[in-house]
Amino acid sequence: MKVLRRALIFLGPPGAGKGTQAREISRRYGVPHLSTGDMLREHIAKGTELGRRAKPIMESGQLVSDQIVLEMVEERISRADCAGGLLFDGFPRTLAQAEALEKIFEGHHLGRPLVVNFVVDPELMFHRMSGRRTCSQCGQIYNLHDSPPRQPGRCDICGGALVQRPDDREDVMRERRAAYERQTRPLVDYYQARGQLFNLDGSKDVESVRRDLLALLDRAS
Ligand code: AP5
Repeated sequence: MKVLRRALIFLGPPGAGKGTQAREISRRYGVPHLSTGDMLREHIAKGTELGRRAKPIMESGQLVSDQIVLEMVEERISRADCAGGLLFDGFPRTLAQAEALEKIFEGHHLGRPLVVNFVVDPELMFHRMSGRRTCSQCGQIYNLHDSPPRQPGRCDICGGALVQRPDDREDVMRERRAAYERQTRPLVDYYQARGQLFNLDGSKDVESVRRDLLALLDRAS
């Protein structure tokens, strides 16, 4: 198994393919995949207080408050499995989150995070999100246009039911893209200025993006 011993951040607009690649990279490097979106959806599924607060915000396409997200992240990265490296997917998403993360890392020994920026054209991103289906049991991601399951509605891996995310409706997708432009895109300049950013062409097919990503990680780590 390859060794990472640092934090990776997957940055990019909704539907860019961050989650798809993160699952594979996390397996290959044996590091936890910390998706703040998945963590929030888990809270919603369990009906926690945090989930009840986050649900209407996520379904409107806006970002959940920095405070909620940072509390969740701080708790998660204090666990022992993050000591050898970790992969953030969809975090940080605001300048306040990025600055808070720098402070959090001062107390850890992973060095500076490496940031991979997934670059994808907006129309392709909408096409991908409209076809996305996710396994309700194991989280495997499919696409009805490009990578459908063998049996309609069922996960190839565990047989779980495939579901569509409520925020993959067209009006909500447009709001999510707008929130990205407003609040998350500034992080590209933020990390670029610190020499931590690597751009990745996310518009190629899944295998090609994976190959480019692995080559990038080999060079950068
Ligand atoms: P989150 O769950 O993080 O969603 P997102 O960032 O909007 O990203 P997505 O999961 O939509 O896309 P992805 O890039 O992972 O694409 P995927 O691999 O699935 O956040 C949801 C909400 O939670 C936010 O709107 C916000 O409210 C809240 N939230 C989360 N984090 C937060 C934070 N830090 N602060 C505040 N609020 C936060 O791929 C998409 C589809 O394309 C799939 O069907 C896949 O099969 C397909 N696909 C992937 N790659 C390819 C490829 N190369 N070729 C063809 N198809 C592909």
